[in-house]
Amino acid sequence: MGSLEKEAEMGDELMEAILYVNGVRRVLPDGLAHMTLLEYLRGWDLGLTGTKLGCGEGGCGACTVMVSNYDKTSNKRVHYAVNACLAPLYSVEGMHVISIEGVGHRKHGLHPLQESLASSHGSQCGFCTPGFIMSMYALLRLNKNPPSEEEIEECLAGNLCRCTGYRPIVDAFRVFAKTNDALYSGLSSLSLQDGSSICPSTGKPCSCGDVRFQQPSETDGSKYTEKELIFPPELLLRKFPPLKLSGNRGLIWYRAVRLDHLLDLKTKHPDAKLVVGNTEVGIEMRLKRLQYKVLISVGQVPELNTVVVNDSGVEFGSSLRLSQLLRLFRKVVKERPAHETSACKAFIEQLKWFAGTQIRNVASIGGNICTASPISDLNPLWMASRAEFRIINCCSGDVRSIPAKGFFRGYRKVDMESNEILLSVFLPWTRPLEYVKEFKQSHRRDDDIAIVNGGMRVFLEERGENKEVFVCEASIAFGGVAPVSLCARKTEEFLIGKSWNKSLLQDALKVIQSDVLIDKDAPGGMVEFRKSLTLSFFFKFFLWVSHHISDVKPTMETFPSSHMSAVESFTRPCRVGRQDYETVKHGTAVGLPEVHLSARMQVTGKAEYTDDAPVPPNTLHAALVLSKLPHARILSIDDSESRSSPGFAGLFLAKDVPADNMIEADEELFATDVVTCVGQVIGVIVANTHENAKAAAGKVKVEYEELPAILSIREAIAAKSFHPNTEKMQRKGDVELCFESGQCDRIIEGEVQMGGQEHFYMEPHGSLVWTADGGNEVHMLSSTQDPHRHQLIISHVLGLQMSKVVCKTKRVGGGFGGKETRSAFIAAAASVPAYLLNRPVKLILDRDVDMMISGHRHSFVGKYKVGFTNEGKILAYDLEIYNNGGNTLDLSSYVLQNAMFHSDNVYEIPHVRIRGNVCFTNYPSNTAFRGFGAPQGMLITENWIHRIAAELDRSPEEIKEMNFQVEGSITHYSQCLEHCTLHQLWKELKMSCNFLQARREVDEFNSLNRWKKRGVAMVPSKFGVAYTKVCTNQAGALVHVYTDGTVLVTHGGVEMGQGLHTKVAQVAASAFNIPLSSVFVSETSTDKVPNASPTSASISSDMYGPAVLDACEQIKARMEHVASKLSFKSFAELASACYSQRIDLSAHGFYWTPEEANTFRYYTYGAAFAEVEIDTLTGDFHTRTVDVKLDLGYSLNPAIDIGQIEGAFVQGLGWVVLEELKWGDAAHKWIKPGNLLTCGPGNYKIPSINDIPFNFNVSLLKGHPNSRGIHSSKAVGEPPFFLASSVFFAIKDAIKAAREEMGLGSKWFPLDTPATPERIRMACFDEFTSPFVSLDFCPKLSV
Ligand SMILES: Cc1cc2nc3c(=O)[nH]c(=O)nc-3n(C[C@H](O)[C@H](O)[C@H](O)COP(=O)(O)OP(=O)(O)OC[C@H]3O[C@@H](n4cnc5c(N)ncnc54)[C@H](O)[C@@H]3O)c2cc1C
Ligand code: FES
Ligand code: FES
Repeated sequence: MGSLEKEAEMGDELMEAILYVNGVRRVLPDGLAHMTLLEYLRGWDLGLTGTKLGCGEGGCGACTVMVSNYDKTSNKRVHYAVNACLAPLYSVEGMHVISIEGVGHRKHGLHPLQESLASSHGSQCGFCTPGFIMSMYALLRLNKNPPSEEEIEECLAGNLCRCTGYRPIVDAFRVFAKTNDALYSGLSSLSLQDGSSICPSTGKPCSCGDVRFQQPSETDGSKYTEKELIFPPELLLRKFPPLKLSGNRGLIWYRAVRLDHLLDLKTKHPDAKLVVGNTEVGIEMRLKRLQYKVLISVGQVPELNTVVVNDSGVEFGSSLRLSQLLRLFRKVVKERPAHETSACKAFIEQLKWFAGTQIRNVASIGGNICTASPISDLNPLWMASRAEFRIINCCSGDVRSIPAKGFFRGYRKVDMESNEILLSVFLPWTRPLEYVKEFKQSHRRDDDIAIVNGGMRVFLEERGENKEVFVCEASIAFGGVAPVSLCARKTEEFLIGKSWNKSLLQDALKVIQSDVLIDKDAPGGMVEFRKSLTLSFFFKFFLWVSHHISDVKPTMETFPSSHMSAVESFTRPCRVGRQDYETVKHGTAVGLPEVHLSARMQVTGKAEYTDDAPVPPNTLHAALVLSKLPHARILSIDDSESRSSPGFAGLFLAKDVPADNMIEADEELFATDVVTCVGQVIGVIVANTHENAKAAAGKVKVEYEELPAILSIREAIAAKSFHPNTEKMQRKGDVELCFESGQCDRIIEGEVQMGGQEHFYMEPHGSLVWTADGGNEVHMLSSTQDPHRHQLIISHVLGLQMSKVVCKTKRVGGGFGGKETRSAFIAAAASVPAYLLNRPVKLILDRDVDMMISGHRHSFVGKYKVGFTNEGKILAYDLEIYNNGGNTLDLSSYVLQNAMFHSDNVYEIPHVRIRGNVCFTNYPSNTAFRGFGAPQGMLITENWIHRIAAELDRSPEEIKEMNFQVEGSITHYSQCLEHCTLHQLWKELKMSCNFLQARREVDEFNSLNRWKKRGVAMVPSKFGVAYTKVCTNQAGALVHVYTDGTVLVTHGGVEMGQGLHTKVAQVAASAFNIPLSSVFVSETSTDKVPNASPTSASISSDMYGPAVLDACEQIKARMEHVASKLSFKSFAELASACYSQRIDLSAHGFYWTPEEANTFRYYTYGAAFAEVEIDTLTGDFHTRTVDVKLDLGYSLNPAIDIGQIEGAFVQGLGWVVLEELKWGDAAHKWIKPGNLLTCGPGNYKIPSINDIPFNFNVSLLKGHPNSRGIHSSKAVGEPPFFLASSVFFAIKDAIKAAREEMGLGSKWFPLDTPATPERIRMACFDEFTSPFVSLDFCPKLSV
């Protein structure tokens, strides 16, 4: 039982600390104050591993659970989604927690949400899936009425998925929106009485017979409602007791339940941290490793939760949660006169984009204010809107009021003593002619912290005979431009007394420039962008106010209507999508859009990942000791402090490695003498818990002698720092001769650079390693795309024969290339203590460590020279191409080679010369990532194709078409194109997207809108399929047929969400002519199928499909003898009969691709169209429409293939427009050299649900079987990735329109990828950027 604060101290009766989890009452023991709810659910004795740990910082939503409590004030049960990774365990004392396991399960029936998500193909790797379901579940439980589609998308903004591209998730949940009244009625939510069903595409009842929709067989959602977990009756009656509980390292957790308790506690513990949502304190303690001794939970103190609405304004307690504040403001806006609620409306808008729902549900107003973050979204608004903070003195009980404007004193410093707390906030109503407006620009619109935000207010007055409007009061506040939320005082003073007209605008813009000064190397960087935003925001404010005044004062000076585009705010439309494909069925299963075989496991949280497997007794947890410098000699390692750290069980360094510390020719397992990047592994520490291992690792002191570091491609080129023997050349014709011959009417030269990309698989790297048979064997479970490599490296490191090392991989929560080679060193590090101590060791990387050490997509620089005719025909292409390999070679040489192979994209170029080199830099080794260099090669080409178009004043699409390769074209690596479907794809796409009309409409929109511009683009691609390392083109499989007619398939490929096991099972089912449900693919294991190639390069179904088919055919041939004699009612009968005849029902299948002269077996062709809209003043953008068309032959499973296309496209969209890796390099001096700033979801932004196209249409080319693929199919995983560059080029097209309007003509201009809001805004050169930069300015990029 929990130990509680003594009755005498708190004046309340002593009660045990309890919690309900999925309807079961649990007593919370003392001693767990350091623990999060997630740790409790996953570990302890509950083992509810359906709730996942994706990031531990509230940024991914994988840990979402629903919390319910009884609110005595409103007499209501309230349900809300929270991030269990940030919720302290004791914060949910007295509440009911429902995790995915409490929602529905396979035996008792899936919840309709689970059923719908599985059936709509909304779960690929499944790691994010429970989190999505829980967010949606909480929304449904909270709302009496079905939510709107907008509410559904809003509630999912805090959940990330890296696999699906979100469209199927939206479709799956859309059926629960208002349009579907069948939900929770007697009907199944998905199958209607008239036999029609809810269409996953439209979300409406439909009888289209969409074959994607599979009726659930083993489950029936309609039965589910009876089993919905009720709110525990005990909790209806129970009061929240005060708590005093302890935790590790002397931590004390108090819960105050009355104001006098709180004041007492704070007086006794002046240094105590108050906690409401723990979204700041939790991050400080876990990521920044700050150690607080006393935490006081104040979320239940009634006086801090009161709301008083009266005639002067509204006052609310400081513990009010942001979602409550949002609801409150929405209510008062409805109830009060419009002129009174200008500030409330501004807060509503700002709160919409504040974090995700899970954070808003717990984060408090007080927590945000008192943290005083310089980028707080709300503080500039409090300052602007005349809010007052009421502060109470804990000793005297005296309350003082202070204007918000005077509260913020410096970096995270406020005008509050340690014996004071924030009691409440008072927000006055606005008056007639008083206007308040919010501003925020972030990297990503949803769930992102601001780059710059602002709150602005003016109170105007009519004066004189002609009632001219003058400024009486003004507040202009900015966040993100100084260490504190900043009042632009000079600007405010300037404005007061001035007439509200255009000349005020011009003068005020000048004053702001002198008011907001940002140092050139200020933390956060983006200095020019930030300064420009302050002007853009003020301009928008001016127009917005002028527009509002003109409503009441029509004589006001007006602006052209095209300027209104500056003030129209973004609204979240509902996403729609169309998927168009043919099904070519082969046998019982091949060709059908079957649901992912594990989908139903995944939606119930039952699917196991490495971190979920029950650990053997005696397991130790590992943490890595990592280098802190990019290049340095290790002088000494002092482990004395870590040895006395709690739970310490051992430190292992290079000298302890049993056999060979060299895991590659240029890579050590543990650094011996010199470290060559930040994050290089120096050793591994094991301890009794993960936290203790990390704490001990943090205490290892390494002394270094710093050495010079190479921190960019350009520095590497200058220093000739290349990985040995990586220089490459591909050529065709004679470029030099062509340039000299005078055939080229024009020759252009330039450079294209592009940043890297983090894989951001939702499941971090992890391995569990243990010994067997007294240490004679080593076994492991690993999250890897290459179990064979794990086996190989670990046998090498430990000096064991490979036959004694087994690696198993059940499933991987996303890999995308990041777990191909870079997972083995992590498992190898864990294997050393496991082997030497003869104890199981588990090593799961924290998200920040994972992102820092495990490598990324390569950044590239391409220097090109292109010759072409005046018509636009390309004649010669000379390219020098460099990729950033990092500190070891890894796969960089192959990645570079693949970039070179794809450098022609789809264009016929008579003369080509491509020279490449892999740069050695002092960064963690970069590695494979979806596309494997091909997207980078193609992107360079598409860049100069667009430049040719600009030079010739033609459309890029025209230039592309006239240079397309054709059937029989010979590439620069001598491959002849066969079955080239490019022209047909392009033509069909151009028709389906109605390109010419889209172009016309965009041009018209642009002519009517000064500050918003639209752009369109079409991009083609040709993706070569095969491993270029020939020996890897082989695959093995093992198939067993059992006497009940079921089939167990094992093969060398890994299931990581891409549906490989499902496709392979379909092949087996069709081969035996049995239902798909009779085939099971269990896991990948090196003791079942030896020497398997990694699962990568998109070709696994091309390889393992035939290998499985080979095994099936062998068994079938053996069965034939029995089958031909008798007729059998079922396959089970036949299998039994064969068994009786002593026929071997197991076979090993093998497949290798025939030797060919060609580099690639075949090509996957594709094309995409995109239309975007940008806000030229802020760089904000959204994708309005995307149409993708791919040639996938006869798809093995079109539903899975569509999912791969959408997922790849959205991941590619992240690469080209959102995801920016920021390293400590010459361009980012405010980051420590060689360190990665963007190492978590907090500041590395992958696309969220709000970033997908409004209209997302995918179609597959029909009627083109692929003679070189299993059952005429084609590879799909990587080819669509590059097509997302259509969004990039559409953005560039929109920027071009903005520049043309500025009178800059249609001249070509560079734009780096990712085209983040910063790059978009700065490229839209205008009067708000020109004070800070020149026309050719390009924001800094780490390459
Ligand atoms: C994933 C994520 C996304 C985020 N996104 C945004 C965003 O978009 N915009 C933004 O502005 N912020 C954002 N934040 C920051 C954070 O959510 C807010 O600052 C939040 O409002 C803090 O509230 P809390 O209740 O969780 O604070 P807690 O962590 O519980 O407390 C924070 C601090 O406030 C103090 N405190 C709390 N109440 C009082 C009081 N009554 N009197 C005195 N001191 C008090 C505590 O002592 C503590 O130091 C984000 C955070 C995360 C983790
Ligand atoms: S694990 Fe909790 S939000 Fe990512
Ligand atoms: S299915 Fe969403 S992250 Fe894999």
